[in-house]
Amino acid sequence: MKAQLEKIYGNAATDLAKAESINDVETVKDKYLSRKGEFNSIKKNLKDLSDEDKRIVGALANEITRKLETSLKAKHDELYTKELNEKLQTEKIDITLPGKFIPRGHVHPITSTINEITAIFQGLGFSLIKNELSPEVETEYYNFDMLNFPPDHPAKDMQDTFYTKAAPNVILRSQTSSAQIRAMELQKPPIRIISPGRVYRNEAVNSRKNNFFHQIEGLYVDKDITFGNLKGVLNEFIRIYFGESRPARFRASYFPFTEPSAEVDVQCIICGGTGCRTCSGTGWLEILGAGMVDPNVLKGVGVDPDVYSGFAFGMGVERLSMLKYAIDDIRLFFNNDVRFLKQF
Ligand code: DAH
Repeated sequence: MKAQLEKIYGNAATDLAKAESINDVETVKDKYLSRKGEFNSIKKNLKDLSDEDKRIVGALANEITRKLETSLKAKHDELYTKELNEKLQTEKIDITLPGKFIPRGHVHPITSTINEITAIFQGLGFSLIKNELSPEVETEYYNFDMLNFPPDHPAKDMQDTFYTKAAPNVILRSQTSSAQIRAMELQKPPIRIISPGRVYRNEAVNSRKNNFFHQIEGLYVDKDITFGNLKGVLNEFIRIYFGESRPARFRASYFPFTEPSAEVDVQCIICGGTGCRTCSGTGWLEILGAGMVDPNVLKGVGVDPDVYSGFAFGMGVERLSMLKYAIDDIRLFFNNDVRFLKQF
């Protein structure tokens, strides 16, 4: 039995020497030391021995078992360290690798221009009217009638309007001036609001005109508002938006809903005033219409023109953006060519 034990130990040692992984070590452990393992089957035969031999062989069996346990543990630890080092090596993260690039969208130049202009007027004390309060699908009533356009007045031809099939008087608004009426219906003076939004005109599309574009409407109604206030606010806006050095001029004009009316030009950004194709040789570019709110408009919404007065203005967003960034074709805003959009 002694020889048998020695032999088993020898086999176990050989098996263990061949073990290449922790798994192999476990297999060796199972084969020799588990309940059904080879040592146990030997130990079962101990009962057949004399007491003297039992003691000797038993002691030897225990010693060999302990030796085997020790080498198993040593081998296990050795392989564990080896496997761990391999794992650390192969799963190493190179923190110097560049990160993955995730392309990001950004705000459309029209939106950013609207935001910029809105912020300027907010700084001057105007508050923003929410889009829902002044719809793009509008009635002639708000777009024309209440703005003092007499029925069938040729002034309606100033803006070629899109009519809808919803009802004879339902149109796509041709100007954000409709927001003036909606604001004055909702609120008593003092009123100091701006209302940006999209407008539609049935026009042939070219580099300077699109059949939809954006405007920002402004309205200030209170006691003792004068044309001086109008000039002050608009000049301040131009100074902030274009910078100190861009000359501007007020020119007399006509709109049915303002009296007197004016248009404001800034010096051409392309030629600097000497005259070019962009400014049709005049050296000036129109950026907005404005004027003192016509007393008829105030009366229409129940505001007493003997007590209150006001001014209004409406500016083209694309125009202002084109002038600031020297963009020479309005269609660029709407073609969604990322090479263009990315630049803003
Ligand atoms: N609604 C006019 C247009 O689209 C622009 C305009 C002119 C707006 C004078 C105003 C204004 O508020 O007072 O041509």
